[in-house]
Amino acid sequence: MTGFKRMPQCALAGKRVFIRADLNVPQDDRGAITDDTRIRASLPGIRAALSRGGAVMVTSHLGRPSEGQFNAADSLAPVAKRMSELLGRDVPLIRDWVDGGVWLAALRPGDLVLLENCRFNKGEKKDDEALARKMAKLCDVYVNDAFATAHRAEATTHGIARFAPVACAGPLLAAELDALGRALAQPKRPLVAIVGGAKVSTKLTVLKSLAAKVDVLLVGGGIANTFLLAAHGKIGKSLAEPDLVGEAKAILAAFPGKVPLPIDVVVASEFAATAKPTPKAVENVAADDMILDIGAQSILAMRAMIAMAGTIVWNGPIGVFEFEAFAAGTKALAEAVASSPAFSLAGGGDTIAAINKFSVADRIGYISTAGGAFLEFLEGKTLPAVAVLEERAN
Ligand code: 3PG
Ligand code: MG
Repeated sequence: MTGFKRMPQCALAGKRVFIRADLNVPQDDRGAITDDTRIRASLPGIRAALSRGGAVMVTSHLGRPSEGQFNAADSLAPVAKRMSELLGRDVPLIRDWVDGGVWLAALRPGDLVLLENCRFNKGEKKDDEALARKMAKLCDVYVNDAFATAHRAEATTHGIARFAPVACAGPLLAAELDALGRALAQPKRPLVAIVGGAKVSTKLTVLKSLAAKVDVLLVGGGIANTFLLAAHGKIGKSLAEPDLVGEAKAILAAFPGKVPLPIDVVVASEFAATAKPTPKAVENVAADDMILDIGAQSILAMRAMIAMAGTIVWNGPIGVFEFEAFAAGTKALAEAVASSPAFSLAGGGDTIAAINKFSVADRIGYISTAGGAFLEFLEGKTLPAVAVLEERAN
């Protein structure tokens, strides 16, 4: 399955090297980076390109900004700052880079620049061909090292790979594919998957095929809320995707008993660190409640299921663990995964932040930088960013 070119096989000396990394790091409300794992994971690829004499430009998306305009909240500026601290050198951030210009003309072997959030460019998410062709013109070698975005066919993850003179996989992308492929080739059963987090719609759609592959599918966060809405009809003001209730019902009906839902939750009247937590049975959730964590009974049930697992796959927190009052569920989950004898794989930006916050990293079998891409890999899907590298290799 790894029929693509890898960075060590490509000549980089004196070449313009365009690296697509995933520097989509979690940030607090003031924009401070709360976990820099993805930035650190991208450094080996960047350092290798520099030391081999490449003139290096790196880009990434951050968040999900509206295309066609700059907005400071989604700027890569904090990432440029963190990267320059980690590398011990200045990392200039270039805005409006698609058409090249002075910055490109000035780029020399050994230079490194960061290209502003690629999702500010109109056409990025739609994998627009004209945009991808322009981007491809900036470089001699395109390197995709963004495993965490490999499930997206966008201009910087897919289109550019079709048109760049050379297209190859960076060391992080290659290592993640190798490690996950090995770990999931013959997983020890029961295979327990935990899928949580706030990105409801893009994850809910993968759950159907995931449910078929695993023995237990534990849901949390906004995803669980959508299932609770499907099962009980009321979740108050909680984050959910009402449009996907039909999908959630279909999954519950197709896999009876495989998708246990929380029986109790912790609610608040607002989404805030200072909100007062109130434990409740799911039947008692009121119209103005917001579910922000799972309750004590659900924690016990979750612990029992994780304790009997042969393999654990975890993506997404199950409560708003960033707020102390609503962190108990995710903390218990992190500890249960860490202390289980099962082989555990965990991935995703917020998941890594939770793993680090609860200090269990050294007791997780494998930690992937990817969340959504990791789930789609597990689902057995071809990741478009990988597929296009394979096409280029043929
Ligand atoms: C992630 O955080 O899962 C990746 O960076 C992809 O981000 P996206 O879901 O906004 O495409
Ligand atoms: Mg994310």
